[in-house]
Amino acid sequence: MIRIKSIETAGKTGERVLLSGWVHSKRDHGKLIFVDLRDRWGIVQVVFSPQNNEVLQEAQRLRGEWVISVEGEIKKRPENMVNPNIINGEIELEAQKLVVLNESKTIPFAVDTDGYEIGDESRMKHRYIDLRRERMKKNLLLRDKITAFVRNFLHVEDFVEIETPILTKSTPEGARDYVVPSRLYPGNFYALPQSPQQYKQLLMVAGLERYFQIARCFRDEDTRGDRQPEFTQLDMEMSFVKREDVMRVNEQLLISLVQKIMPSKKIQEIPFPILSYKEAMEKFGSDRPDLRKDKKDKDLLAFCWVVDFPFFSAECGPASGGEKTKWTFTHNPFSSPKPEYREILMNKEKIGEILTSQYDVILNGFEIGGGSIRNHEPQALRKVFEIMGYSDERIDDNFSHMLEALSNGAPPHGGIAWGLDRLVAILAGEPNIREVIAFPKTGDARDLMMNAPSQIDEKQLKELYLSFTKMPRPSGRGV
Ligand code: AMO
Repeated sequence: MIRIKSIETAGKTGERVLLSGWVHSKRDHGKLIFVDLRDRWGIVQVVFSPQNNEVLQEAQRLRGEWVISVEGEIKKRPENMVNPNIINGEIELEAQKLVVLNESKTIPFAVDTDGYEIGDESRMKHRYIDLRRERMKKNLLLRDKITAFVRNFLHVEDFVEIETPILTKSTPEGARDYVVPSRLYPGNFYALPQSPQQYKQLLMVAGLERYFQIARCFRDEDTRGDRQPEFTQLDMEMSFVKREDVMRVNEQLLISLVQKIMPSKKIQEIPFPILSYKEAMEKFGSDRPDLRKDKKDKDLLAFCWVVDFPFFSAECGPASGGEKTKWTFTHNPFSSPKPEYREILMNKEKIGEILTSQYDVILNGFEIGGGSIRNHEPQALRKVFEIMGYSDERIDDNFSHMLEALSNGAPPHGGIAWGLDRLVAILAGEPNIREVIAFPKTGDARDLMMNAPSQIDEKQLKELYLSFTKMPRPSGRGV
């Protein structure tokens, strides 16, 4: 007999079927045992009765979360047992055969609640159990729907999905890199990408014109509610575009995504309001303002764009009382200045006044994405690095491949990356992006389930020519 899903039981009254899943709950009334059988799609009530006495006896030993298969007949529930508020509330499965596929220990916490009441340590250590709860399953399914929608939308718009390397060279995105030692080149390291920034630009030089990727990014920075060391971007890049073109495609995508996948949500203002950085700071004291008119309405989505950020900020120097101004980029060193500031950049004048082509997209006070039009002229990119005080040697060491690529027929181009976890979390009404990531890290960057990070053995260290001058801690963290 072929197993059917719990949602397929409707309309099968009178038929013999096979259902498999987990014992969600069990109510033992002696002569009758009721088991709520759970599979990915829902719950079906199974009744064990004296009509099949042997099966009833067997059912007595069932415990929560055991994995079972039940064969039996779908019956209409007696009138007084009908529950119109739940799926399958009108039917039940009368068990005629029971197979225990696997027993289960008593699980460490309940899975029939929303789980907010359970300590994070416990939820993270047993994440595969935590994910059984309805809320977590719903979040993962929502995430899947969103990525499927995005893929489809962008393919229709002629974007190509391309994977870029994970073992790569550091990209300056403002955070610390995660590094991977190379066995074949002792003393050398790969870096995990902070974003696919350089690769996507190189794909534009390659002539792909419209690229996207659901890309994993790695940043060794302090974890908090909307930040994970490992997170996902919807990353895209387009050639022959202006800032407005990239903003338009993204705005359309966000609007149609909300309307199609979350029709109960209301977008406060379409087209999205556009604020300059200056305006946002003056009016709201933040470059990611929460524009919701009613913050109590959980279905209200207030998107906006923030543009015209300063390109550079002073790290130290006159502004902070130092000798010489040291500049750093505010967003992305590969951005171009706004066209009217190009000359100023080339002359390295009035550096603090240069505005970048950067645009951020904000939702309910969270930065859910950011991008820019890029510097596609090598001499202008070089100027950015010079302003940041990089020596010629350092520029060549770190960025010669980009400067070289830009000297070989690079089209004007620009793009954006969304923080996918953040967007999904806001749409799901979750306070923390951990709730929409299947296997997230804890607040202190550990994977409690796999026990990572962990020490590696002597042999692995030797192969990598690694040794410690001083061990940070004898047993490592996470043990
Ligand atoms: P940026 O660094 O602004 O831009 O990242 C883009 C978006 O990614 C999200 N984000 C994060 N989400 C979760 N955890 C984190 N640690 C984290 N860091 C960032 C944010 C952010 O808006 N290469 C450029 C994009 C471009 O210019 O095209 C970049 O990575 O929502």
